[in-house]
Amino acid sequence: MNNFTGQVVIVTGGANGIGKATAELFSELGAKVIAFDREQAKDNSGVENVVLDLGNLPSLEAAVSEVIKKHGRIDVLVNVAGVSFPNPILELENDKYFKTLDVNLHAPVFLMKHVGKVMVAQSYGRIVNLTSIHGKLSEPTSMAYDISKAGLEAATRTVALEFAEHGVLVNAVAPGFVATRMSIVDGKDELESEWFNNIYIQNKRLPIARAALPIEIAQGIAWLASKSNTYMTGQTVTIDGGLSARF
Ligand SMILES: NC(=O)c1ccc[n+]([C@@H]2O[C@H](COP(=O)([O-])OP(=O)(O)OC[C@H]3O[C@@H](n4cnc5c(N)ncnc54)[C@H](O)[C@@H]3O)[C@@H](O)[C@H]2O)c1
Repeated sequence: MNNFTGQVVIVTGGANGIGKATAELFSELGAKVIAFDREQAKDNSGVENVVLDLGNLPSLEAAVSEVIKKHGRIDVLVNVAGVSFPNPILELENDKYFKTLDVNLHAPVFLMKHVGKVMVAQSYGRIVNLTSIHGKLSEPTSMAYDISKAGLEAATRTVALEFAEHGVLVNAVAPGFVATRMSIVDGKDELESEWFNNIYIQNKRLPIARAALPIEIAQGIAWLASKSNTYMTGQTVTIDGGLSARF
């Protein structure tokens, strides 16, 4: 059903975690995949790696132009790259705050602008933005991340409205816990902590009592980005093992 043969797909954050699983899945499904990441990906065969800092917003237009020069079109944009720097408001550090917003929110917005121009001209495109359950639920010390994800959900809706008449559908995917290096905070994997085990597993706060694998998020992304999706736009699809369904 999700055949991407002949399609050109950009995945940001394609060197690790959810982005890597997404880039590899699109490649297996027949797409030409270009990963934008500040790191060089290891072992993701079939994926073209472009090393760049998404926080350098003025550089994004040229990066998109390069893809067009080389491949002639862009069918899918998946904004996966994200960062998180826990920081209480009373100790708020400018660097952490602005970096989080630049990478998680402003880079996806400007990529939607630059790639969107191409998609509108083609009268076809699919955009998927990675948000989080933090788009709707907040956590102490997580203000910049929470704002970035809530903002990206808002941007997803606005851009969906502007692009709908051009055949370009724009959605977001909001994961809960995913087993990637992002769950490692201060050198400790929170998914292996007593805190996670007690609250989320033993007390059943997380109905599917385990973190998601990156591929489980990638599969949701692939459907939203496929030609099978003909009518869903402006939505955030939560893939969190039932976490946010519980009171
Ligand atoms: N892991 C989770 O539990 C979880 C939960 C909900 C949402 N998310 C979201 O999913 C997305 C992917 O997270 P992940 O868990 O795969 O994280 P990850 O750290 O494994 O991967 C993030 C990727 O983004 C890249 N990146 C970060 N800053 C960059 C920059 N300035 N320029 C270019 N590339 C940059 C990194 O190099 C890395 O390859 C993020 O947007 C994150 O907020 C993750």
